[in-house]
Amino acid sequence: MNTIIAAVDSGITEEEPNQDLELASEILKKGGLVAFPTETVYGLGGDALNPDASRKIYSAKGRPSDNPLIVHIADETDLQKIAKDIPEAAYKLMDVFWPGPMTMIFHKKPIVPDSTTGGLDTVAVRMPSHNVAYELIRRSGVMIAAPSANTSGRPSPTMASHVREDMEGKIDMIIDGGDCRYGIESTIIDMTGEVPTILRPGYITREMLEDVIGTVEVDPAILGEAAHVRPKAPGMKYTHYAPKGIMYIVEGESSNSVIRCINRMVKERQMAGCKVGVLATRYNAMAYEADEVIVIGDKKDELMISSNLYRTLREFDARGVDYIYSESFAGSSLGTAIMNRLIKAAGHRVIQAPSV
Ligand code: TXA
Ligand code: MG
Repeated sequence: MNTIIAAVDSGITEEEPNQDLELASEILKKGGLVAFPTETVYGLGGDALNPDASRKIYSAKGRPSDNPLIVHIADETDLQKIAKDIPEAAYKLMDVFWPGPMTMIFHKKPIVPDSTTGGLDTVAVRMPSHNVAYELIRRSGVMIAAPSANTSGRPSPTMASHVREDMEGKIDMIIDGGDCRYGIESTIIDMTGEVPTILRPGYITREMLEDVIGTVEVDPAILGEAAHVRPKAPGMKYTHYAPKGIMYIVEGESSNSVIRCINRMVKERQMAGCKVGVLATRYNAMAYEADEVIVIGDKKDELMISSNLYRTLREFDARGVDYIYSESFAGSSLGTAIMNRLIKAAGHRVIQAPSV
């Protein structure tokens, strides 16, 4: 299949005509697939109410069909068409965080095909704030089912070039709208239970949600403390986000202890003939003696770290490293979401550095 690639300015407004968005709309209405930028990661979009389109999405990604898709909307009235029993708290959250990087789960109406929800009787819904995503939904009049536009198991795409790596030749069109601002997927919050529950952490934190609606719970499966607990978001159970190299996260009391521990392990792997990478924060980077040291950002700038995370993991793949040692970013608010992705990328391999 020939994949059309088109660039659309991320500053596009409602009034501005755009031929590429028109073409993308036609493709979506006919049941085709269009990858597009959002403020979190690139999405692989198809008509959420067309079972054939959802099936094509699973096949292009190589994704297990029990893993449901998020439906992207541009208007609150669309929500009424696909969801029922919407609680008051959901309207409060929408007022504050939509459009934006928050997904809510509701009981679904029959109009939403089982192939979109992986057979569940609930549906995940989000209104993206990226102008290109928003305008694509609005102009096409199609509610767009969109998982991240990566091959299943690879890091999510945060640039159009990542989407091309994984999807060129498999889908109808890729819209290049530049780099994604947040770089990790939306916060998912389940609104179907008595107490709203976070199923996937993201830029919108528990504290931000609690400021608006009071108590919010967190699915205990999220940080992997409870490996035996089955996550409520089916997609969270897969390894996910994995780079090709085997990755370890190294935690420690101080930067010095982490640097020393990582350098020791790097040397051991190199002696065994392996190519080794280190994922480092800016001020520590000079201290590492690895084949490939990639700086993810300043430790204090969590937004920079989250927006660079997946790009960095893909870069290690491109440089062909066998092992990756990463610093840890545990910390406040956004740190929870970053560590959730990083721990999964590392297949839960976390090492404690001995103190120096
Ligand atoms: O930021 C995002 O949310 C991006 C962009 C493209 O919008 N999308 C995204 O989709 O991350 P995906 O398919 O890669 O991840 C969706 C997650 C999966 O873990 C899935 O299991 C969960 O949402 N999910 C979807 N519908 C659900 C439902 N009804 N109940 C529980 N979990 C659900
Ligand atoms: Mg994904």
